[in-house]
Amino acid sequence: MTTATVTVGAVPGTHQVAPPHTFILFGATGDLAHRKLFPALYSLYMDKLMPEQFAVVGVARTDFDDAHFRDEVRSAIEKFGRIKPDKTTFAKFVERFFYKSVDVNNPEDFRKLKERVEQVEKQLDLPKQRLFYLAMAPNFFGTVALSLKSSGLSEVDGWRRLIIEKPFGRDLESARVLNNELRQVFEEEEIYRIDHYLGKEMVQNIEVIRFANSIFEPLWNNRSIANVQITSSEVVGVEDRASYYEKSGALRDMVQNHMLQMVMMVAMEPPSRLNMEAIRDEKVKVLRSLRRYTLDEVMGNVVRGQYTAGTINGKPVKGYREEPNVAPNSSTETFVAARLYIDNFRWAGVPFYIRTGKHMAAKATEIVIQFRDLPKDMYFNQNGQLGPNLLRIRVNPQEGMSLLLNAKQPGTDETVVPVSMEFSQSVTNSPEAYERLLLDAMQGDSTFFTRWDEVSLAWKFVDPIAEAFHTHAVPLHQYAAGSWGPKAAEQLLHADGNAWWPVHGQQPAAAVKAGNPM
Ligand code: BG6
Repeated sequence: MTTATVTVGAVPGTHQVAPPHTFILFGATGDLAHRKLFPALYSLYMDKLMPEQFAVVGVARTDFDDAHFRDEVRSAIEKFGRIKPDKTTFAKFVERFFYKSVDVNNPEDFRKLKERVEQVEKQLDLPKQRLFYLAMAPNFFGTVALSLKSSGLSEVDGWRRLIIEKPFGRDLESARVLNNELRQVFEEEEIYRIDHYLGKEMVQNIEVIRFANSIFEPLWNNRSIANVQITSSEVVGVEDRASYYEKSGALRDMVQNHMLQMVMMVAMEPPSRLNMEAIRDEKVKVLRSLRRYTLDEVMGNVVRGQYTAGTINGKPVKGYREEPNVAPNSSTETFVAARLYIDNFRWAGVPFYIRTGKHMAAKATEIVIQFRDLPKDMYFNQNGQLGPNLLRIRVNPQEGMSLLLNAKQPGTDETVVPVSMEFSQSVTNSPEAYERLLLDAMQGDSTFFTRWDEVSLAWKFVDPIAEAFHTHAVPLHQYAAGSWGPKAAEQLLHADGNAWWPVHGQQPAAAVKAGNPM
């Protein structure tokens, strides 16, 4: 196969500096804060996107002082930061970090937190503009929001916004309850529901690839596209998150949010304008057209799996049921594959295949658009060897895309070979998803956050599947850790005469019918 490569360098950012505000972070001692949020804030600061006037007030249960908190912030950035602490600037950055210990079940603590925030605002001459971030166990989301109101913390002079991590409920009913609680305090426009996949460079790029290139839009429909495949595979297992994952499983953890978000980005109609509500309106329409399965239909269209012991990177690993804090008879799925249909004029009849799982053979998030086959009796396809054109959008780990075309093998008369036109985003040290999303929220741009109607429609799709899993109407297939998931996931596509395209850099699995040389 011949490969033509185009590589682009870093494109200077066009972002505006965030407005002055106080960032109030609940869950400041947690993993997310350390791995993602502190490093993201520092990168924004170093990229001169944080305002001159800002403060971060960390909130958690543990009792320690500002100095200790600042040390924690420094070591988190040293360990996880894209940009490491710098001798001259770091001290100035971190002196804007403060800490307040709060028991979220104690209203009195919220009153004290309010005093602390006001004191910081006064000390740093900050306007009363507050960004609340809930990076904590979801069962506290509602309580915290209501306490923000009763303590008066949510009263501001300028703007206030609430960023909330997933999961947003565990089904439609609980999501509604949570939403009602949040709406007692915040307007929908003030609620920023994070789906970090929407902060990923190549997920945001889908829109641009589609709508800024005249060669794709005329083909972006059921006349030219045979199927769409979206994979998000992980090498890691459940790690130390069993207490959360046992109740969530891959369906709620990945499908309800990240996978459906990618489906929406691929399938949406061009928005009337490039503004946040117009874009989100189009995404919501995709979910409205997404075929909802009855319990019986789930059986034929959804596959669930759970990893058993296997080998990852040459090392033996345990099966899911042997992992710490996992029930020995757990039926939690660590893998889901599904065939989806979007019943509208553009997509009628085109299967969208999705798959996601833990402890799989490779870490990859990819979208493959498979174009229709040529007529079988054409000159170049006499022995049926001609492969389809593929557009592959690589979200992770190597950002980029490729277009697979057919061309004559040089020096032969009629041998046709696939050639791949490669575009790889070699932007080293490019901003992380959380940097983009935090900056958007600071600026009041909610385009890449999930609106309530998206969340509720996503649950309406997922709930019957969860129910079918719960009642065991869908078998729980096993797959060895380090594989590409259960055989049933391959059979799902084989039944339609299709096969999963191996992810970038991987060889086709033996069972894959149509081998792809990419
Ligand atoms: C999170 C899930 O939302 O996404 C995790 O809770 C998963 O289970 C993670 O590992 C995957 O994100 P990424 O960016 O590594 O693909």
